[in-house]
Amino acid sequence: MSKIIAPSLLAADFKNLELEIKRVSKAGAKWLHFDVMDGHFVPNISFGPVVLASVAKVSKLFLDVHLMITHPEKYADEFIKAGAQLITFHIEALKADQVLKLIKHIKANKVKVGLAIKPKTKVETILPYLKLIDLVLVMSVEPGFGGQKFMPLAVEKIKSLRAYIKKNKLKTLIEVDGGINLETAKLCADAGVDVLVAGSYLFGAKDLSNKLKALGRI
Ligand code: DX5
Ligand code: ZN
Repeated sequence: MSKIIAPSLLAADFKNLELEIKRVSKAGAKWLHFDVMDGHFVPNISFGPVVLASVAKVSKLFLDVHLMITHPEKYADEFIKAGAQLITFHIEALKADQVLKLIKHIKANKVKVGLAIKPKTKVETILPYLKLIDLVLVMSVEPGFGGQKFMPLAVEKIKSLRAYIKKNKLKTLIEVDGGINLETAKLCADAGVDVLVAGSYLFGAKDLSNKLKALGRI
């Protein structure tokens, strides 16, 4: 089955965002991954809702927003307003009752919702939420920076998630993020992933279109 590819805007040329978005759209991408970093939850700062609103104006892609921030509950509305179609926040950022509350809030606004886990977070912590969410994001690098090396422990997590989703007949999508190239994408695809985020592998390439198609066929 073909995979959904979500090019990560973090690796794009920021002085030419519109062109970069057109480049991935033309190559056939359907999703765009938008990494939000606050310099607190992760040791880096990227972009926020103002940039997302501009991106939404020039893009027909499905806007997949990955919040790597300490207070997703405070900022979710701004991203909804800016045009997010899927908001994924980190389970490590909030207490269990806040996680549930934010899932409900995002859904009530007719935006899809995802939960992300960092490499050191056990997959079991996220299982009880799977029936409530649209997507589970497995980080295959420590969040914060593009261009890092893929951590193979993500493959086992994807396998466990796929088994749980199958057993419980859920529709939750599994997304993997960090260090994705043709080789690591294959490992994740064999483990049962649905969505592959790829930043430097795609935007760093002159033949972005071939690379994107190859990932999609995996
Ligand atoms: C990392 C981000 C990723 C990043 C992936 O914290 O969540 O989405 O852009 O970049 P690559 O594909 O270069 O590892
Ligand atoms: Zn991301």
